[in-house]
Amino acid sequence: MKKAGGIEKVRKYPNGSLLVKENYTKDKKLASITAMLKLQGYDPADRNWVMAAYDPTGKVLAFGKVGSCIACHDMVHKQDLVFAPPPAQLLPVSTWKGFFPKQAISPMYAKLLQEHPKSIVR
Ligand code: HEC
Repeated sequence: MKKAGGIEKVRKYPNGSLLVKENYTKDKKLASITAMLKLQGYDPADRNWVMAAYDPTGKVLAFGKVGSCIACHDMVHKQDLVFAPPPAQLLPVSTWKGFFPKQAISPMYAKLLQEHPKSIVR
């Protein structure tokens, strides 16, 4: 990322790249962990990422060529499916609703969308 000049400028992550994201609730409790590992030849159609999600105890919630993960991450296919963290890149409300119809969008995220309209990924 440093070599490319920032996360949004990376076009291809090297084999073996591992990205891990901790997901917290608004009261700062760990809700889940998502990860992606670049494995040469694993899934050439979708940039060779192994997708994984774990609950806070380490139980596997999703693993492998997970269509739902890939469908959303494909919005940033130019960045090899890796999003920049908010507020650099934000999901449009329509995408949120499409993927999580039963969840309310957090007021914090709604505020970010208002403050950074140019950061919304199309
Ligand atoms: C509805 C869209 C959406 C879905 C579905 C989704 N993600 Fe993400 N993911 C994002 C966004 C947006 C970010 C960057 C913002 C953030 O860090 O919260 C992100 C960040 C990540 C990151 C940190 C690297 C990066 O791209 O910034 C990992 C790892 C990750 N997601 C894995 C997963 C896995 C594994 C799944 C499926 C179990 C998944 N994601 C499903 C939207 C999504």
